[in-house]
Amino acid sequence: MNTKDIRHFLTLTDLSSMEFKQLIHRAIELKAIQHRGEIFEPLKNKVLAMIFEKSSTRTRVSFETGMAQFGGHAIFLSPRDTQLGRGEPIEDSAKVLSSMTDCLMVRTFEHEKIELLAKHSSVPVINGLTDDVHPCQLLADMQTFFEQRGDIKGKTVTWVGDGNNMCHSYMHAAKLLDFKLNIACPKGFEPEQVFIDEADEHISITQDVPAACSNSDLIVTDVWASMGQEEEQKIREQAFSGYQVTAELMRLANEDVLFMHCLPAHRGEEVSADVIDGNQSVVWEEAENRLHAQKALLEFLLVA
Ligand code: CP
Ligand code: NVA
Repeated sequence: MNTKDIRHFLTLTDLSSMEFKQLIHRAIELKAIQHRGEIFEPLKNKVLAMIFEKSSTRTRVSFETGMAQFGGHAIFLSPRDTQLGRGEPIEDSAKVLSSMTDCLMVRTFEHEKIELLAKHSSVPVINGLTDDVHPCQLLADMQTFFEQRGDIKGKTVTWVGDGNNMCHSYMHAAKLLDFKLNIACPKGFEPEQVFIDEADEHISITQDVPAACSNSDLIVTDVWASMGQEEEQKIREQAFSGYQVTAELMRLANEDVLFMHCLPAHRGEEVSADVIDGNQSVVWEEAENRLHAQKALLEFLLVA
């Protein structure tokens, strides 16, 4: 196959709105199949290579488990013990890895790196998080909302905190699934302009956190310092004070509001313990859905 014809999943916008919704519904079906204990192995003998240049618990375990449940296999690769860490070019690594395996999953820093890898890969490439976006997490978050509340079209979602990779993927989702996204973030920590331009009328950016949360159907946050920003932790703690999701903020939202966080979370920083551990929080369902949503994605990309 010509490498240009391969479907990659580098950002949510690699999917059409209809494909995104189909994946959500398929993830819900695959979850039911798994919970019934049925064996379903559409990826027998298929191999997923996973390159992690940043740490991970959920992404690694969900992809590895998903491949095992599907009858296939996953290989964990880190720069520390592969030639990638010793300077082997991305282009060469992409050609070699894709000649032996059926799919590549990559978690890295610069988004351009995954684009380069995809350009030279002869198999689909999945983005397991870059500095710019985290599209796999949005598959799980949206599955969770659909399971709990039905279609998200026309609903109001509020993002509280850093205009980071997760926020950018929420902006993509707002456009694809047609919901309103309020983004409450401190000055200087807004999402990048290119993502603002893409999301246009679906988003509004403010520093008024209570106003952003009022009448929300879903409130979402994430860490104040993402992976790679550890040295900014102290400055960020100051910049983001007043941006903690508290029970008081949750009370301003709609009565049936949900709380999500991609995890890992810092209780007492971006979210109070009573919110993340309270009954409006669906963070555990959200985390489990990484498995089911990514199985739906793997099936979509690898089964003709
Ligand atoms: N939410 C998420 O991607 O978690 P990990 O960093 O543990 O993979
Ligand atoms: N924004 C966070 C998400 C972790 C899953 C980070 O990039 O570290």
